Amino acid sequence: MRFRWFGALLVVIAALWVAQFSLRVAPLSVDGPLPGPSPLSAFEGDPPITSAEEWMVRRAPLLRAAFQNFVYGSPPAATPPAIARRRVIDEHAFGGLGRLEELQLVVHGPRGDASFALLVATPRQIRGSVPVVIAPNFCGNAAAVGRRYRALAEPVWLAPRCRTLVGRALARAMQGAHIVRPAFRELLSHGYAVATFSPGEIAPDDARLAVAALARLPDASADRLGAVGAWAWAISRVVDVVSREPGIDASRIAVFGHSRFGKAALWATATDMRIGAVIANQSGRLGASPSESHVGETLRGLFRRYPHWFPRVVETEGVSDEIDQHLLLALIAPRPILLNGATLDRWSDPAGAFRAAEAASPVYALFGRVGLDQADMRSTNLDADIAFYLRPGGHGVRASDWATARAFLDAHFKAV
Ligand code: GCU
Repeated sequence: MRFRWFGALLVVIAALWVAQFSLRVAPLSVDGPLPGPSPLSAFEGDPPITSAEEWMVRRAPLLRAAFQNFVYGSPPAATPPAIARRRVIDEHAFGGLGRLEELQLVVHGPRGDASFALLVATPRQIRGSVPVVIAPNFCGNAAAVGRRYRALAEPVWLAPRCRTLVGRALARAMQGAHIVRPAFRELLSHGYAVATFSPGEIAPDDARLAVAALARLPDASADRLGAVGAWAWAISRVVDVVSREPGIDASRIAVFGHSRFGKAALWATATDMRIGAVIANQSGRLGASPSESHVGETLRGLFRRYPHWFPRVVETEGVSDEIDQHLLLALIAPRPILLNGATLDRWSDPAGAFRAAEAASPVYALFGRVGLDQADMRSTNLDADIAFYLRPGGHGVRASDWATARAFLDAHFKAV
């Protein structure tokens, strides 16, 4: 009998281990070499960069094209969505802190329509326009607000872990309550609006289903696009909508993305200048962490497990040696970036992301801005334009990740 219990315990521990992608201590030393090439050195025949203007006019377009060709694929057409329906879900949501509305967005394309529901919470107490945080969610809008509203339908596609009560409870236990719910109260009470949606409605996170969904997006082909690129495109479509919403300040739009959505959030910010700040929570390989690193997930493993995330051509030909993820961070300059990591999340390689941030910093200096300005991962400096926050624990979204994100946005969006 005792053996049976012991066996069951082992199985549970093994399952938790797998679900957490390893729960292995991440190396915390950031002394290694910086990922190359230096962002300011010659690139594809373009001479070295010496000013912010040269960066913006010459280098940034070349790099954006390189990331498009070698990593994230060609985005679908930037057609702004139509608002097919709008309804108030709750005038006094979150204990009266915010007003909650649902907007059904539709992007018309030659091969059909792409449609998704956007949930927007705006603070009630504030006059004038407020900054907004766009936060893609993992388990749909109904779950994002704690299943309090029957009016909110399940999205057309839901990740398997979100489909059952047990799955959702396990996800919350393993990866923190905020894996499912953005921190509405934290944000609303500090004067931020929140816009959340389920990226699976645009491209299901499923290798088989994603292909057809990608092909439906305007001007897209499954060969030249992957789900991460499609999710980034969806973030920009949300920007189209929120920047026209009365009461929202279009000059203060931030994106918070965790892990796979952290990859999408970084790519969206690198390509969409309307986004004023980005928080990438444990975005890992092909997010903020360099591909050349030997810690954590490998590119090959990533492509094998998630063949639908990146364009087929990238997976077969590999990512070019000419670019690495520090150049993606550099493309966001001079806009603020917060990178969040966790001590037991070796998988997403936090020290690699820290070094990528360091390597991107000379581009911030061109703009007279302070890039990463901390000696190590623990001495977080939220006033710098690139900040790094490391918390204890494993892969997931915890209250402190959001509290830090909010404090970072206060430092950059509210400073006079
Ligand atoms: C997997 C994947 C990572 C990704 C993570 C997530 O672990 O390998 O690259 O970041 O899922 O999205 O949680």
